[in-house]
Amino acid sequence: MDQNQSKYCEFKGQPRLPKFAIPKRYDLKLKPDLVTCKFTGVVAVTVDVVADTKFIVLNAAELSVDPKFVQFKGPKVLEALEVELVQEDEILVVEFGESLPIGVGVLSIAFQGTLNDRMKGFYRSTYEHNGEKKNMAVTQFEPADARRCFPCWDEPACKATFKITLEVPSELVALSNMPVIEEKVSNNLKTVYYEESPIMSTYLVAVVVGLFDYVEDHTSDGVNVRVYCHVGKANQGKFALDVAVKTLGLYREYFAVPYSLPKLDMVAIPDFAAGAMENYGLVTYRETALLYDEKHSAAANKQRVAIVVAHELAHQWFGNLVTMEWWTHLWLNEGFATWVSYLAADSLFPEWKIWTQFLEESTEGLRLDGLAESHPIEVDINHASEIDEIFDAISYRKGAAVIRMLQSYLGAECFQRALASYIQRHACSNAKTEDLWSVLEEASDEPVNKLMNSWTKQKGYPVVSVKVKDQKLEFEQSQFLLSGSHGDGQWIVPIVLCYGSYESRQSFLLQTKSEALDINEFLGFSISKASLMETGKEGKSNSVCAWIKLNVDQTGFYRVKYDEDLSARLRYAIEGKCLSTSDKYGILDDSYALCMACQQSLTSLLTLMGAYREEIDYAVLSNLISMSYKVARIAADSAPALLDNIKLFFIHLFQYSAERLGWDPKHGESHLDAMLRGELLTALAIFGHDATLNEASRRFHAFLDDRDTSVLRPDLRRAAYVAVMQNVSTSNKSGYESLLRVYRETDLSQEKTRILGSLASCRDPNIILEILNFLLSSEVRSQDVVFGLAVSREGCETAWKWLQNNWDHISKTYGSGFLITRFISAVVSPFSSYEKAKEVEEFFASRSKPYIARTLKQSIERVHINTKWVQSIKNEKHLAEVVQELAHRKY
Ligand code: BES
Ligand code: ZN
Repeated sequence: MDQNQSKYCEFKGQPRLPKFAIPKRYDLKLKPDLVTCKFTGVVAVTVDVVADTKFIVLNAAELSVDPKFVQFKGPKVLEALEVELVQEDEILVVEFGESLPIGVGVLSIAFQGTLNDRMKGFYRSTYEHNGEKKNMAVTQFEPADARRCFPCWDEPACKATFKITLEVPSELVALSNMPVIEEKVSNNLKTVYYEESPIMSTYLVAVVVGLFDYVEDHTSDGVNVRVYCHVGKANQGKFALDVAVKTLGLYREYFAVPYSLPKLDMVAIPDFAAGAMENYGLVTYRETALLYDEKHSAAANKQRVAIVVAHELAHQWFGNLVTMEWWTHLWLNEGFATWVSYLAADSLFPEWKIWTQFLEESTEGLRLDGLAESHPIEVDINHASEIDEIFDAISYRKGAAVIRMLQSYLGAECFQRALASYIQRHACSNAKTEDLWSVLEEASDEPVNKLMNSWTKQKGYPVVSVKVKDQKLEFEQSQFLLSGSHGDGQWIVPIVLCYGSYESRQSFLLQTKSEALDINEFLGFSISKASLMETGKEGKSNSVCAWIKLNVDQTGFYRVKYDEDLSARLRYAIEGKCLSTSDKYGILDDSYALCMACQQSLTSLLTLMGAYREEIDYAVLSNLISMSYKVARIAADSAPALLDNIKLFFIHLFQYSAERLGWDPKHGESHLDAMLRGELLTALAIFGHDATLNEASRRFHAFLDDRDTSVLRPDLRRAAYVAVMQNVSTSNKSGYESLLRVYRETDLSQEKTRILGSLASCRDPNIILEILNFLLSSEVRSQDVVFGLAVSREGCETAWKWLQNNWDHISKTYGSGFLITRFISAVVSPFSSYEKAKEVEEFFASRSKPYIARTLKQSIERVHINTKWVQSIKNEKHLAEVVQELAHRKY
């Protein structure tokens, strides 16, 4: 036994597989049994033996392999001497009695496994058909779960071709990456043979077996595109189908390479952990991310579908055709797909002004990266269990934002040319971050590698402080941290600034800690106290806007801190409507972050927020609304006596736009107004605006009588649900019960998640507990529980107790998947006291695991940040007067 344990120690504990044999081709046969939820399979891997060895080491997990059915066929047939599955390393070590001959041979392995309920590997999802519960079999292999379905070299750089065969019940639809070449039916079973794929990574292999209907179309170059949906719901696939066909055409042009497979299938899966997965030629989605229902989907649902489809199709080039060499470069996949999806959405739906909405992505990136517990974009990965946690806002959102920053620095045309040559150069192969920089450097003659290393190899980002001194504009960079301290990072920052108008623009690279610009160069733009005073007076009447704005269009991944004079000028410029949507968004967001980091007073943040009363743009207002929620929460802890006035101020702030939009959609109104209306009314309901609460309740009751009523269209529903929940308490549960009825009666996932997302806004802790318990019942799919965790301030403590009481169950159900991290961040992050932080630390001291460690640290850091923020607001001097003035200001 002892000997056995140490036997294969040279292969254990290694981050990557030894490369004695290189896989070239997999011949894979799978036979899932949807009744017993077991599967059997045989894989024959053509390998190239390149080293003198008696061993072959590949990945496998949760499979049983009988050594009798493992053999190597070279010039002669060798039976395996011993086969060991090493659980902790998820490897299968196959030992032969003699050295394998150098050159090509075929390793074949028969195996068995279980269709699990954890939404990874080869798993079971369920659906209803004619009132009967049915199983389907689905794969989800990214990042490292192909090994749970068949033994393989489960690393992105080990690309090979795949020849797949499935044996399934003959009445079911069976899909894989490639088109079917032949089907043989015998009794109740059919054997389906698929074409051999081009070379690809294991994490992109996919299989789906179940009952589906589909809609289909073709691209102009003959690619067959289908959307598979629940039987009877094929119509809901039409919107995604249309987006997919157009997007394929767009990417073909943009990357100057056609889509590389003969078909593209997209399938809605009822149980799905991520939003969607870009499997080569067989993209799988959550229902909410693929299906669009004309009558019951909201504008926000439509936009989500378009963005997700565009994202997954971008991967068909960026990720599938050219694949990251190792998970350290995951951001190349995800950051790029995120950025490109906006490019596509902008081209298909220019009226969505999607680049202004992209700012929300950057903001989320900045928020996570403002933590000391963040990580660099390029992150070391030493074990498969560490990969899940890096599918986060750094890889996706910071990744996308730094790409946007670079594109804006190099110019769109040069950038596209370089990308096309990157795709051509690395097609059917792998690439690292520096390979991308090389092509960009060649195309632009700019020092891209040096510039970008400062953004991808170190965590964090700078705040650039600007002030006017001695006729000079002084810039200084330091690392921005939400904790208020300064890190020691330094970046090469592409600075673009405008002064007085968008016509006068200047750009430079800030390469050192500080730099100064002679502002005499700014023709006709004199900065002096006197001119500031004058602007202040005239700002509104004459629109004289003597302002300076850095990070024009918000394409840079950094924050800006202006001195007092410059800040005031910008505020006047906002009131004078001189600035673009993106710039207004950026000024507000930076100010909010500086306030949270206690580098600016709440007084000045609220004053700035007041300048946005007449704002009509969706992106700006949407961010203003999210901020108002957070500010109200923090104020409840730091200045409870002021809370009513703060809420009143927010109500006044949002009323202007809410009245402009009214409750009913205007004929032909914009997509953005449709989304905005819902968010504004939700905010008014949360801040307790009586007229909104009453009207919401009236419309909700009409809706209960008639689900197709035009008085509560999908865009308004969330607002109405939240409003209804505001009045629910232990003694008055009827609103809650009605909402549960709607939840149970609808068969549209978007409706279900809309309801789940509204429930916990209730303020009665007892009801919150009921809701949380409902989330863990069989009525809520485990993928959807996280939507219900947006708990009101009054329910936070209840949620934390509930999480502790149910932790064993939650950690069992969610295992090592990335969904488990959401429980921690949603429940822990809102707290704002050191005692709570300590309590959380103590609870998890014996319960932490490698796959939650980072999230836990980040959530606790957030609690510390909130705590400091609360303290600093308590010490603010003139807050009460300012809040009083803002709340009762006559406009
Ligand atoms: N490759 C991911 C899916 C994924 C995520 C696999 C996490 C394994 C772990 C896919 O391309 C993706 O990024 N999906 C996003 C949607 C997208 C629009 C941001 C998702 O799942 O949220
Ligand atoms: Zn992705």
